[in-house]
Amino acid sequence: MSNAQRLICEQCGRGIEEENFQLNCPDCRTTLRVQYDLKKLKRDFAALDDRLFSGSFLRNYQNFLPIKQPDLIDRVSLNEGQTPLIPSHRLKKELGITDLLFKIESHGPTLSLKDRGTSLCALKALELGFDTLCVASSGNNAASVSAYAARAGLKAVVFVQRDLSPAKILKIMAYGPQLVKIDGDMSIASRLCREMLARHHWFECGGPSPYRFTAKRIVAYEVVRQLGGRAPDVMILPVGGGTGMASVYCGFLELKDMGVISALPRLIGVQFAACAPVARAYDKNTDVIEPVEKKPCVSDALLNRTPIAGLQALRAVRETGGKILTITDEESIAAIRQLGSQEGLFMEPAGCAALAALKKLVSKGELKGAKTVVCTLTGHGLNAPASAFSTSESPEVVPADVASVEAYLGLC
Ligand SMILES: Cc1ncc(COP(=O)(O)O)c(C=O)c1O
Ligand SMILES: [Zn+2]
Repeated sequence: MSNAQRLICEQCGRGIEEENFQLNCPDCRTTLRVQYDLKKLKRDFAALDDRLFSGSFLRNYQNFLPIKQPDLIDRVSLNEGQTPLIPSHRLKKELGITDLLFKIESHGPTLSLKDRGTSLCALKALELGFDTLCVASSGNNAASVSAYAARAGLKAVVFVQRDLSPAKILKIMAYGPQLVKIDGDMSIASRLCREMLARHHWFECGGPSPYRFTAKRIVAYEVVRQLGGRAPDVMILPVGGGTGMASVYCGFLELKDMGVISALPRLIGVQFAACAPVARAYDKNTDVIEPVEKKPCVSDALLNRTPIAGLQALRAVRETGGKILTITDEESIAAIRQLGSQEGLFMEPAGCAALAALKKLVSKGELKGAKTVVCTLTGHGLNAPASAFSTSESPEVVPADVASVEAYLGLC
């Protein structure tokens, strides 16, 4: 049975029963979080069944999520979550890290980290009687929400920014939503989504959703179980809206409060230099996240001028002794190429940002003493395949005979 109790306002502490669902606190308009009974979480964590460590995370972690009607899991699920944590074989030697692991969040059914949050949102929309899902997105979330709406038999209205990779547009179209390409960037698409939400009875599945947040914290649970009951020393995550970082921090805090782990990992966030409002606030040692001007960038994701959970992400890194750093386009492209050719993993620029950040931290000697490091890889390379490779690099045509092939391969 679910150990969720109700929704609670982070700012003023007002509680709201789930039946009276609203996106924001009626008193102070702050985003809401799901509140759990920690004693019961602790009891149920000990009883988690490893045999269930496959299939949807919604099923394995249903007591840790606000699921009132578990029979709906099959209706919405596409087998999300439970993503692999795989050890690096080659890069770890080059970087001198004893245990370097990749948490492959791009393994979602729609090839990005968005699916675990969306699956819970779709389930809650059904529980609460909504018929339309909506989201504003730089691409991946729009695809995820469209796919889960299709799966659950709901409608989807998705707002995307003007500039996004052609592959992401095609991916979204495949799931048949009402797709609104807004003349503006992610912040402007988000504003439009909010304005439409105020006028229509739709279910918001993006960063402001308490359900997205609470689903994403399970990444911390998975990592700890995959490591045999301990936290890594360092965990690196990309920061766009900041929800991923803030929710993973929340998951680790719960695990520490339950006595499952003895120490929190150092959480390290990474943004593109082209648009890095949270990194800037970190550098200035302030809590004020000022909107920044967005510069051209190899990535279409992570470029959020007004990150909804930026402050929470900032707190997560500060309170765990981590930091937020920036990477350039060149550093991202180098990481994509290296991850593909040395580890067999293909990521889009935002998906690979954690590795680019890791290389930078190691080169500056900032990770001394860290034995177990987890890099979170969040978006598959096919979401933006032309970012690091161009078709002009594709191979010349070789005549179809052995002599030509051997000559081409330098074997004679
Ligand atoms: C591939 C990828 N990684 C990371 C993120 C950022 O996640 P968050 O908004 O939770 O910080 C996004 C968001 O669009 C993304 O598409
Ligand atoms: Zn409030």
